[in-house]
Parts: sequence; C-alpha cells; structure tokens
Amino acid sequence: MSEVRCCMADDRLIVALDVHTFSDARMLIDELGDDVSFYKVGMELFYSVGEKVLTYLNEKNKKIFLDLKLHDIPNTVAGGLCSLLQYKVSMVNVHASGGYTMMKTAKERLCDAAKRNGVEPPKIIAVTVLTSMNDDDWKKIGETEKISDRVIRLASLAKEAGLDGVVASPEEASSIRETCGDDFFIVTPGIRPIGSSVDDQSRISSPGAAIKNGATHIVVGRPIRMASDPKIATKNILAEMGGIAV
Ligand code: C5P
Repeated sequence: MSEVRCCMADDRLIVALDVHTFSDARMLIDELGDDVSFYKVGMELFYSVGEKVLTYLNEKNKKIFLDLKLHDIPNTVAGGLCSLLQYKVSMVNVHASGGYTMMKTAKERLCDAAKRNGVEPPKIIAVTVLTSMNDDDWKKIGETEKISDRVIRLASLAKEAGLDGVVASPEEASSIRETCGDDFFIVTPGIRPIGSSVDDQSRISSPGAAIKNGATHIVVGRPIRMASDPKIATKNILAEMGGIAV
C-alpha cells in the first residue's frame, strides 16, 4: 500500500470534478470528505447536472470555482456572470483574450449585481493561455509571440481591468507574480505529481513546485480522480503543499 502523509484540508488545493453525472461527483466529494474544501465545476458537469451539484457542494460547505471560461462580447459575458450569482460560488472565470473592455465590464457589472443582492461577488479570474497549448498548436492558430510573453501580457491586462487573478501554467507563475504583484490570484492547472501521467496537458509542474513558484491555488483533476486511491493521492498532494507558504 502507498504511504499516506498529512491530512489537513487546504483551500489552495482545488479538485476538478470533471465527471458527467451527479452520482459520480457525489461519490468523489464524499470519498475525499474533509480533506478537500474547494472544488472546481467545469463545463462537463455544469452542462449536465450543474444546479444539483452546486447545491450539494453548498450544503457540504465547500468552496466552488465555476470554470465556464466565458468568452463573448462584454454585455453578454457580464450578463452571463450575473446569472451565475444565484449559485453562490467563490470564483468564476473569463478568457483574457476577450479583451480589456470585456473583463472590466464583467467585473463592474458582477460587483454591482452582487451589491444589489447583498452578497459577496465571486472572484473573477482570467484564463491566459490554456495549459494544454504547446508551441505547435500555438503556431497553427497563427501566433508568433512566445506563449510565455503572451501570458504576461494577458495577466497584466486582466490586472489593469480590475480582475482578481489569472489561470495560467505553473511554469509562468513566478513571472506573473513579479509583474502583477502580491495581491493577485494565480490559479494553476497542469499539475502533475512526479511520476503521474501527463495526459493532454503540456506546460506542467508538480504541486510543490507550482506553490513555490507563486501559485495561490493549484487545480488537480485526473491525478486525484484516476488514482487507484483518490484519498491517498490527495493526502500526498496536501503533504507536498504543507509548509510551503504563498
Ligand atoms: O485532469 P487535469 O488535472 O488535467 O484537469 C485540469 C483541469 O483544469 C481541467 O478541468 C481543465 O478544464 C482545467 N483547466 C486547464 N487549463 C486551463 C484552464 C483550466 O487544464 N488553462
């Protein structure tokens, strides 16, 4: 049996619920129990049983990152985010490539709507460049700027637009921290504990390295969900993060 290490929940770990049904989501949430306090609900689960799973997570007092990566004109994105207020989530996101005006409008309208409803507005973070994107994919969509330079450009733009942080690869976390300062969320998917399968991710690092490089949160999906024992995989990731202050 693999070694089990620490067992304290840590809000910096966000577990991605990339499953299709409510029963699969509930099984993982129940299995991980008090070890996990923060979950990410993405398109797959939201489009199938979104309301039910978000209600369940709220009942269990879990924090929620609703990862729908909105990308549209400013009015549509802002309206979409305001509709999501009903789900009581802590974090939502948009694509930074939607532009400065879209991000600024989204932030302002969501804060106004939250104020009118007497609730805390969710943090809004911006996706910079997807962690699955490699140099070949990048060139094929006609891009010539280096991926890392684009990430910094988009992170700066998100900060200027008043957003609370970005989603980026752990490889870029330290330069984002340098450019955007301390008070800025850096949420990093593309996390792979040493020895686990890379899957479709490209710009990856281990949980500890991501935190050391300045990530405020790490998003982990398959390395926990597909592990032979998800609880042990979680505890080992928590142990690796433990003692590393952001
Ligand atoms: O299974 P894995 O750990 O690769 O899951 C990563 C999660 O983070 C997925 O839910 C994916 O949608 C999300 N994500 C990502 N890259 C981004 C933004 C979000 O992998 N740039």
